[in-house]
Amino acid sequence: MDRIYMDYAATAPMLSEALAAYVAAAGDAPGNPSSLHAFGRGARSRVTEARDALSRALGCRPDELTFTGGGTESDNAALFGAARAQRARDPRRTGIVTTAVEHHAVLHAAERLASEGFELTVLPVDRAGRVSVHDAEAAIGETTAVVSVMYGNNETGTLQPIADIGQLARRHGAVMHVDAVQALGYVHIDVGTLPVDLLSLSAHKIGGPQGVGALYVRTGTPWQPLLYGGSQERRKRAGTENVAGIAAFGAAASLVANAIDARRSHAESVRNALLCGLIDRLGPDLVTVNGDADPEGRLPHILNIGIEGVSNETLLMNLDLQGIAASGGSACTSGSLQPSHVLTAMGLSPHFCKNSVRFSFGMGNTISQADKTAEIIATIVARLRKR
Ligand SMILES: Cc1ncc(COP(=O)(O)O)c(C=O)c1O
Repeated sequence: MDRIYMDYAATAPMLSEALAAYVAAAGDAPGNPSSLHAFGRGARSRVTEARDALSRALGCRPDELTFTGGGTESDNAALFGAARAQRARDPRRTGIVTTAVEHHAVLHAAERLASEGFELTVLPVDRAGRVSVHDAEAAIGETTAVVSVMYGNNETGTLQPIADIGQLARRHGAVMHVDAVQALGYVHIDVGTLPVDLLSLSAHKIGGPQGVGALYVRTGTPWQPLLYGGSQERRKRAGTENVAGIAAFGAAASLVANAIDARRSHAESVRNALLCGLIDRLGPDLVTVNGDADPEGRLPHILNIGIEGVSNETLLMNLDLQGIAASGGSACTSGSLQPSHVLTAMGLSPHFCKNSVRFSFGMGNTISQADKTAEIIATIVARLRKR
């Protein structure tokens, strides 16, 4: 059976260049980047090369990047690190402002901070999943420590007005954090022009390995590390570096940074082929797109749809039997029976949330895979609706 993988937002297959970089670094002579001998210097130079590649991709200085153990760690380090540093400077700064559609790595970290005495404001979103700048303006003030708003959503792809909200945060002396885990590789991120102080990234969404990420920390941002121990990463993240993983992340980052336009248009054409194929076969009344329909307002590689009368569990199980991988929401919550917090925040009923499926695409997908997937979904839906 030819399998079709349409779950790139959960994790993307490793790029061959990233795998080669991983194998080269892992198979190299032993070397701890902190060791001063030639072995150590060899390992260190791989980490430096990767940091340089990532800094070119983001338009920042290499020393503003800290490698982490993934997007979740970057988000946690951003929230805890900025909230605690802000409160240490000024005890009145205890406000955390975020949105209802953040990844749980942000939401649960923010809730934890609330249990430690921080005041949490969770901004609502509209039907497209977008937060309003007006609401953000009302929530951000002189006691706000951190504002955390994601670049693009992992379930729907909806982009947030991070530049406008970043300006508001800056005006009030709050630290602005952006989770750009899904945006990397699909939008031109330039931290030199964005009013953003902290930015989270993850390697495995762009064809790097799982368990590696990075946090951009703008020079001068009130922030303190999450991990203490050795003096790695300029004392910003203790622990021996994952040298092979970081080398592979660097290789993946430079490849995707040079191919953003091609990646965008490829993902958009596969997405369109699947959506149009479904609408042609099922009719427009049966298929609803969750999120922003306007390509300017969303990431190109995510398609979240509801199919009336068909539960996502049943559809995903049937698709899996046919060799097609998609997801019921974010990878972290799709194993649970809870309706998606993102779709719920957008005002969808629990019933409709359970009809919703996320397809997410990458360079490994083709238009003919999209056509085949639409055909198989139409057959499954016809069979299920007959029952
Ligand atoms: C928007 C977003 N933030 C954070 C994460 C967590 O990243 P990681 O899997 O590297 O911990 C994910 C992963 O799904 C994500 O989509």
